[in-house]
Amino acid sequence: MVTEEKKSVFRVGNAAFINPVLLASGPAGYGLEYSGMIRLARLGGVVTKTISLKPRAGNPGVRLRETGSGLLNSVGLENVGAARFFGEKLPAILEAGIRPVVSLAAEDWDDYTQLLDETSCHRDVDVVELNLSCPNVERGGLAVGTDPAKVDSYVKEARSRLPGVALLAKLTPNVQDIASLAAAAEGAGADGITAINTVIGMDIDIGKRRPVFRMVRAGLSGPAILPVALEAVWRAARAVKIPVMGAGGISSVGDAMKFFMAGAAAVQVGTAIFYDPGLPERIAEELERSGLPARI
Ligand SMILES: Cc1cc2nc3c(=O)[nH]c(=O)nc-3n(C[C@H](O)[C@H](O)[C@H](O)COP(=O)(O)O)c2cc1C
Repeated sequence: MVTEEKKSVFRVGNAAFINPVLLASGPAGYGLEYSGMIRLARLGGVVTKTISLKPRAGNPGVRLRETGSGLLNSVGLENVGAARFFGEKLPAILEAGIRPVVSLAAEDWDDYTQLLDETSCHRDVDVVELNLSCPNVERGGLAVGTDPAKVDSYVKEARSRLPGVALLAKLTPNVQDIASLAAAAEGAGADGITAINTVIGMDIDIGKRRPVFRMVRAGLSGPAILPVALEAVWRAARAVKIPVMGAGGISSVGDAMKFFMAGAAAVQVGTAIFYDPGLPERIAEELERSGLPARI
């Protein structure tokens, strides 16, 4: 007989998660920052802050700005770099009982292949999310995630350099046709899709008569993007057979249920943990109680 808990086990490739509720890459840092506030071992997993080969200081100037129903960020992929991540952060994450999904991004092809090779040395890493979609980095990220041919070559390269690792391709909503990008990722060997990253936006400081963010553009997240994310997941889930993780604007248990109904196999919570850190666990509890809502 299938128990309630087993019913909500989530799998992508060879990787299994105790439930289909994860923290999205970024807001929770490496997970450790939230270990006093969220019982992270009760969640399916934590997608780490995106790691690049070399450490990145991130963008200068203003990085976060609240909007009417969301958050603009221009963090610019600040991270400790691969060597410190694998040497210090990953052992601490595992020690804390957190189930990591390692998020990777590269500034160019050379960095990318080195980063994949570095990742392949760490047997504890069984699932990777390729961040093909960060809108804050001038080189690399945006071009990769908006072009099916580049998605194909980046995912193929990861597939060949990380043979036993489950691969998630994280897509940007800032494209005409997310379904073709999801299909390209699947065709290149991805085991799952994550949709969506932030929506491009900007803000203006009216007193200074200039953009709030140095890079002008920033990434919009939070409740404002929920309808965009739902539609993207709906379309991506119909374009591929691999599981889709839904992210974008989840700020209640009901929002998460909408993603499952749209076709998601799992959800990721990001911005909401800044003001409601108990939300991911409440979603997991509701799924344990009622099972996964059927796709509509
Ligand atoms: C402050 C902040 C930092 C983020 N950093 C990353 C990142 O490093 N890598 C990534 O793939 N997504 C990053 N994201 C995007 C989130 O993972 C998520 O895809 C997006 O915010 C939509 O979900 P949400 O509305 O629940 O936040 C970041 C989002 C925020 C708000």
